[in-house]
Amino acid sequence: MKKILVTGGAGYIGSHTVLALLEKGHEVIIVDNFSNSNPESIRRVEKISGKKVKLYTCDCCNLDEFATVFKENKLDAVIHFAGLKAVGESVSIPLKYYQNNLISTLNLLELMKQYHVYNLAFSSSATVYGEPKSVPIFEDFDLHVSNPYGRTKLMIEDILRDFSKVNPQFNIALLRYFNPIGAHASGLIGEDPNGIPNNLVPYITQVAVGKLKELGVFGNDYPTPDGTCIRDYIHVCDLAEGHVCALDKLFTNCGLVTYNLGTGNGYSVLEVLRAMEKAVGKPIPYAFKPRREGDIPACFASPEKAYKEIGFKAKYSIDDMARDAWNWQKNNPQGYAK
Ligand code: NAD
Ligand code: UFG
Repeated sequence: MKKILVTGGAGYIGSHTVLALLEKGHEVIIVDNFSNSNPESIRRVEKISGKKVKLYTCDCCNLDEFATVFKENKLDAVIHFAGLKAVGESVSIPLKYYQNNLISTLNLLELMKQYHVYNLAFSSSATVYGEPKSVPIFEDFDLHVSNPYGRTKLMIEDILRDFSKVNPQFNIALLRYFNPIGAHASGLIGEDPNGIPNNLVPYITQVAVGKLKELGVFGNDYPTPDGTCIRDYIHVCDLAEGHVCALDKLFTNCGLVTYNLGTGNGYSVLEVLRAMEKAVGKPIPYAFKPRREGDIPACFASPEKAYKEIGFKAKYSIDDMARDAWNWQKNNPQGYAK
């Protein structure tokens, strides 16, 4: 059993990962400022697992408050999810993104160093690959970013690579997530976006539940079989499991490692829509709209390195993801707010 600090542990991926850690017998401490989440997610994780989580309501950008967590707990590792993640919003308010995502990480590194906590998993994103030269995408592909959100992820990766060179006692996993969707099978925890969702699956489930009128499919003239964009959708519970595998790797004293966390399968927007219609049991209204700026035609992972080095392999299908996304939405039409 290890003592794991999870920053942003009340959020979408964080809450599912906290549950996976508790189920593996680890002790979990969460730090979250609830800027994009609700403490109800933590209560529900406790309900599903039958275990308690220690919570600090704290902003990782506040060094003094954040230090308390390290003073009061002897930690074995940190999983750092805390961050702002909306691409469009990052274009409108870039300073907020740079400030939040960078300062929180710099504070974390200072504290980990000071308190001798040497194992870190960081939430990076497939966004760091920009438009890849080909698919599937391998970890050694060139990195390009095109918006402030993506730049914060790449800057943090660069910071961690620099930091690792001069702090060889640190073990750091850069985890590049592809497109997490779905929810825990209990239907008690899931994705609860603020306002109108930006992402495909929460948008579709809100159309299905009657909160939104129709899905706009952004572009049907891409060079893909049905003209819509292709992504690597991964069940959030698989992604959570990927963190458990990455932690095991950190405890082998691995230095800095980088892994894609994806399935290796690409699905188009229309294929996802069909899977969701099957799960919901009725047609979902949609209309083709112009392309969304910044979207790339196809993005999916090579999952081979993560499989070979940490034994991670996604097990859920697109139909499982659709079923669980819908189960969460229909049981929680207003998300955690009721
Ligand atoms: P989320 O918004 O649901 O979770 C992030 C959590 O961090 C929230 O609970 C939020 O309140 C908290 N937080 C933000 N800033 C904080 C701060 N300064 N101090 C304390 N808490 C803070 O997002 P998510 O989808 O769970 O994503 C988790 C991480 O994974 C993020 O870093 C995100 O950039 C990254 N990521 C997400 C996706 C995705 O599609 N969801 C894809 C790639 C990478
Ligand atoms: N899409 C629609 N209509 C919508 C929403 C999305 O047609 O209402 C399409 C998009 O054009 C895209 C696909 O559905 O082709 C997936 O879009 P998402 O917004 O769900 O996901 P992205 O692949 O654009 O972005 C995700 C994360 C980002 C991350 C990026 C790369 O949300 O944070 O993957 O890792 F940067």
